[in-house]
Amino acid sequence: MRASKANVKKWVEKITSWYRDVQRPLPWRETKDAYRIWISESMLQQTQVVTVIPYYHRFLDKFPTIESLAAAEESDVLRLWSGLGYYSRARNLHRGAKAVVEKWKGEFPRDRKHAESIPGVGPYTAGAVLSIAYGLPEPLVDGNVQRVFARFFGFKEEIHTRSASDFFWSTAREWVGSARSPSELNQALMELGATLCSKAQPRCTLCPLKSDCIALKTGTQASLPRRKPRRPVRRLSWATWVHESDHRILLQRNAENTWWEGLWDFPRSEKPENVEPEAWLRDLPHAPLAALDTQKHTVTHHRIEVFPYVLPWKGKRRNGPHQQWVTVEEAKQLPLSALAKKILLAYCRAQSGTRRSNA
Ligand code: ADE
Repeated sequence: MRASKANVKKWVEKITSWYRDVQRPLPWRETKDAYRIWISESMLQQTQVVTVIPYYHRFLDKFPTIESLAAAEESDVLRLWSGLGYYSRARNLHRGAKAVVEKWKGEFPRDRKHAESIPGVGPYTAGAVLSIAYGLPEPLVDGNVQRVFARFFGFKEEIHTRSASDFFWSTAREWVGSARSPSELNQALMELGATLCSKAQPRCTLCPLKSDCIALKTGTQASLPRRKPRRPVRRLSWATWVHESDHRILLQRNAENTWWEGLWDFPRSEKPENVEPEAWLRDLPHAPLAALDTQKHTVTHHRIEVFPYVLPWKGKRRNGPHQQWVTVEEAKQLPLSALAKKILLAYCRAQSGTRRSNA
């Protein structure tokens, strides 16, 4: 699948010129600051642009410099990340900022080897920061780039293999090597994958690469790129407890190596696998219970149905590093999991409803 230098040059020019015309105006495209590009690229991994924009602004308002991030408390970093998911990205960014401040006086290194030695900075992030912030001809490959290349070259191998990875990276290296603007080329590849060359219903008639695209020629867009079958969905049911005592509610911090490690949540009970949900709910040991709105929550291939209940607390209130009795306002200041945020909202809604109906 070797392409001639002249063809690569032609394709690179076509896609770059398309990008110049149609790129979306995004806040991180207004800067060449490596720290800001790094933040945006960390947030954009696994997360859509529209979701990222408000997080990006809030994060940089609070931590405008790499030094301010390096000096932050982890809980403040997590709080600003809360809702974006994949919290290891936030922890790594925090550790990475400390490393860059300590080792490189706060300046993101200008070569791949040093960049990839920073916690949380892998080949993709290194390529993104080096090309976008510094204009270096460093390649990057993400899911969008894989889709563009797999379709354009009619690449039929399953994409999570070593040889597929070699193909994508060597192609990306070749393309960025012949680009006048590595920053624009890399962003153009991702932009094409995110907009026209989308997973479902790609809009091929508008594509700058349509005249040489193998998938378009052979009508194979829908089956490319080829990936492993998805893991089957697992359904879970949880009951969560909003324990109440004297205008305070109980929150617990998730332990290491559990979902949402380090974030705060309401205590919960999980339905055993072999019990029907109705029987399990009926037999919950707590009474009296006020049920809040049921919540649906998804974590990778898990679909969780969550039944939140409000429960007066009769015992002593104890606080510790992993357990806090807080007011609702204090709860909002903690780094909550996305699920805890939903439950807190349902709780506040129910409370204001109760106050209205009592009035
Ligand atoms: N996805 C992740 N980073 C991106 C970028 N810089 N441009 C377009 N899409 C992206």
